[in-house]
Amino acid sequence: MVDIKNYSEKVMEHFKNPRNVGEIDNPSGIGKVGNPICGDIMELYIKVEGNVIVDAKFKTFGCGAAIATSSMVTELVKGKTVEEALQISNKAVAEALGGLPPIKMHCSVLAEQALTSAIEDYKKKQGNK
Ligand code: FES
Repeated sequence: MVDIKNYSEKVMEHFKNPRNVGEIDNPSGIGKVGNPICGDIMELYIKVEGNVIVDAKFKTFGCGAAIATSSMVTELVKGKTVEEALQISNKAVAEALGGLPPIKMHCSVLAEQALTSAIEDYKKKQGNK
């Protein structure tokens, strides 16, 4: 069982005070992913201008770690080019949060997948795919 003490301060902080919650009007790309085992769902919206992600928001129906990783991934992508954003791994998201308990690493995978899916949606809309 995971005790609350297993979570880093940063995870708790992003869980209690998540950044960039909500939707973007007219987003450049939307990523919607879910984990069939835990049932958590994550939606990530990105706004891209001149190949740079200028804004990112999320809506997550899920556990505390899913909310914290969503919050962190939106912070990490802002100001990055689309190519740079694609390099952000779930491990990088977890590390930026000061680590996650092993049983909660899949929550960071969801954040990576949501980002990849939003970028794929963006590329599709651009006709690059
Ligand atoms: Fe599944 Fe966190 S428990 S995303």
